[in-house]
This record gives sequence, C-alpha cells and structure tokens, in this order.
Amino acid sequence: MAPQPARIPAPAEPQVLGEIPEELTGGTLRRLGEGIGKVVYASEHWVVHRERSPREITALIVLWKALRRLERFLPGAWGIRLRERPSRRIRFLRVLVHGAILIVPRALWYGSHIRSVLMVYHRNRVRGERLAQIHLTGSDLIPKRIEFPPTRVSIGGWPGWLMVSEATERVDGTLHQKMTQLAREDRFVELEAWLDRLLQTRRDGWSRGLFSTDAHLKNFGTIGDRIVLLDTGGLTNRLSDVEERLRAEESASRPHARLGLGTLLADHPDIAWRFDQKWKASVNRETVLGCWPAA
Ligand SMILES: Nc1ncnc2c1ncn2[C@@H]1O[C@H](COP(=O)(O)OP(=O)(O)O)[C@@H](O)[C@H]1O
Ligand SMILES: [Mg+2]
Repeated sequence: MAPQPARIPAPAEPQVLGEIPEELTGGTLRRLGEGIGKVVYASEHWVVHRERSPREITALIVLWKALRRLERFLPGAWGIRLRERPSRRIRFLRVLVHGAILIVPRALWYGSHIRSVLMVYHRNRVRGERLAQIHLTGSDLIPKRIEFPPTRVSIGGWPGWLMVSEATERVDGTLHQKMTQLAREDRFVELEAWLDRLLQTRRDGWSRGLFSTDAHLKNFGTIGDRIVLLDTGGLTNRLSDVEERLRAEESASRPHARLGLGTLLADHPDIAWRFDQKWKASVNRETVLGCWPAA
C-alpha cells in the first residue's frame, strides 16, 4: 500500500484555564478505565487520572506476565476471555495485586530484574508523553488536553478524592469498545472501515516521525470518526526501537488475533484475512521508513 502524504503538523500549547471546568467538581467522577500505569475517571466531557504508585505498577507487571503464562493453561472460555479482554485481565489482576503487595516482601518487588523492567517502563512512559506533547499537541491524533490550577475532585472508589491540575478530552470509547459494539450490531462493513482508518492513523503518526510500539486497540480511542492515541506510553522517535518492534511484528501470522479481534471476526474470516494482509503490507520496515520524515 502506498504511503499517504503527511498532514501538516499544527503544534500548539495545551490550553491553560483560570479554573477547572465545573463539570469536574460538580459530582463524583466515575471510574472509566485503567491500564498498567493509571486509573482514569470521567465527567461528561473530560477525564482525569490517578497515577499508580511504582509498587502497584510493579505488582501489575509481575502478575501480568505470570498470568499470560498461566492463561494458556486456563480452561477454554475463561482463558480466551482474559486474553481478548485486557480490561477484564486488569480488573482480575487488581484483586490479586492488593493481596500480593501485602504478602510479598518489599525486597522482592525491588529485586534487580524487576527494577530494570520498571525503569524501562517508566522511561518509555515519560518519553512517550514528552514526544506527544512536542509533536502531537493540537493535532488530530490525540485528544485535547487542558491545564488548570490544582483542584481536589471527588472520585468513585479508593481513595475517594484526587488532586488534579490537568484533564483530557473524553473520547467516545476505546477502539476496542467501538469494534465490539459494531460487531454486536452486525455492522461489519463499518468495522472494516475503522480498521482501515487505524492503519491510516498509524501512517499519519509515522509521517511525523513517531511510532507506537504498543498499538493495542485499547490504547486508541474514537472521537466522531477520528481515531486518537490515548496511551502515549509506547511512542518512540528512535528508528532502532521501531526496527526492533517490527522484527517482532514479522513473526505475527494473525495480527487481527493479536489485537484481540479473534472472536469478533470468527464468523468473518474474509475481513480478518483482508485486515491481516493490509496490516502486513503497512506495518513493515519498508512502509514505515517510506513514511518517515527525512532526517
Ligand atoms: N481520554 C480518555 N477518554 C476516555 N477513556 C480514556 C481516556 N484515556 C484513557 N481512557 C481509559 O483508560 C484506559 C487506560 O488508559 P491508558 O492511557 O491506556 O493507561 P495506561 O498508560 O496505564 O495503559 C484506556 O484503555 C481507556 O479505557
Ligand atoms: Mg494503556
């Protein structure tokens, strides 16, 4: 597939407000989603997040890996559900984590191997966020972000409140939720169009010299008919990282299954097959480098 021309980047500062939008303080914010590094709470149009502590992140990473190994041995449906529903996996893990933090001695969590995993994770997260701020602020590729003076908001669940000084535009849903909904409503033509749009969005990123090493459907969101990157944690501008990721990508024979679309597309092997072909034609060294801006 021929690389598309780059859109002109429109860099802009995040909008700084004199005070927090009223809807964020008007009531208790509902937990909307969570990842390894943060828990996200929402009002009608905005989301705020709580950063997890290093200990919480460590426990999640360790258990995530253990569970991935374990899942292969779990009885059919349960294993598949955990594999295909990362949100379910994280909810399940959260229950384990709080127990594990209490039982496992501190020294073990911070053993040298785990410490290095945590450091890599943290570095990638900081770098991704910085890259997004520099190259994507004001663009179509990420949700809008606002800043305001530190304010206490009330949240559902522990710890009941949060100090926040920034918020992000709330997306309609994650791309994974969008896909699930379209499949449930038997709207497979639209579903396929969204998959094409995902590949286009990724190419738009590449033409800005940015590559997402963690391009999971849950890390993207939709706003109207736009796809935005929610989780900037995996962003890199280093070609060595890109090439490493692409090498791993080459061995994936069914990209749609890895993205968690295996069950959704089970009765539509034609769509799955076409998507896998398009993915392979797009997510490879030649195409990525073809999009990449000249140094
Ligand atoms: N702007 C947003 N609007 C709506 N939901 C969001 C938004 N940002 C994050 N989320 C929800 O929170 C989840 C975790 O966010 P993410 O940035 O991926 O965290 P992590 O860096 O911990 O992986 C997402 O999968 C999504 O469900
Ligand atoms: Mg994430």
